[in-house]
Amino acid sequence: MSKHLTIAVDGPASSGKSTVAKAVANRLGLTYIDTGAMYRSITLYALQKNIDMEDEKAVAHLLNDVTIRFEEGSANQHVWLNHTEVTEAIRQEDVTRQVSLISSYRSVREKLVEQQRQMAESKDVIMDGRDIGTVVLPNATKKFFLKASAEERARRRTDEYKQKGIQVEYQQVLADIQARDQYDSNRAISPLKKPHDAIVIDSTTMTIDEVVEAIIQNIQKN
Ligand code: CDP
Repeated sequence: MSKHLTIAVDGPASSGKSTVAKAVANRLGLTYIDTGAMYRSITLYALQKNIDMEDEKAVAHLLNDVTIRFEEGSANQHVWLNHTEVTEAIRQEDVTRQVSLISSYRSVREKLVEQQRQMAESKDVIMDGRDIGTVVLPNATKKFFLKASAEERARRRTDEYKQKGIQVEYQQVLADIQARDQYDSNRAISPLKKPHDAIVIDSTTMTIDEVVEAIIQNIQKN
């Protein structure tokens, strides 16, 4: 068992994991690790290299060329892919569409899971993703599973895009979220699944602050 505090937050697309995990990290002085950003960075790199995304061998071949690094920014965490900052670029729609495919590859998961475990070895962390409580940190101090209806998650993601000035159709966002849920939950390796010992929080009708409070109270309980 790690002597550090390790908090796992899993859940489907747009369930609020990253917003909530960031806020909990700030309040409790933990390091936030966004594992989705790591899968997104590999996907962005594969798109930039113009390789066939269906070809796992070609994707695996790229892995040795990729270094992903997080840097604490004033308000937000910055993500670096080799020598380029990709914080915004990894949120683009083309990355979002392809990330579930890329993250289903064993070679990709092995590399990133190893890095994620290393990151949690030496400091107190809160890590969010799909397989944190089940695979990456099975002995996490606390595990949370965030859920919300697909419609509510699509509304949140549509608002997020709008705030960034990106034009999207709610129906399209909903369809993309449902496709990703389906893909992430049914893949062979490390599918999205509630860890048996996780605390489930359904945030459909909760505010961000309410979810943050619920998590913090639970962490501080014992
Ligand atoms: O922020 P959003 O909910 O859109 O997703 P994300 O957390 O950035 O993750 C993007 C994608 O990466 C997911 O749909 C999964 O396919 C994959 N992922 C994964 O397989 N395992 C993780 N630990 C984190 C993300």
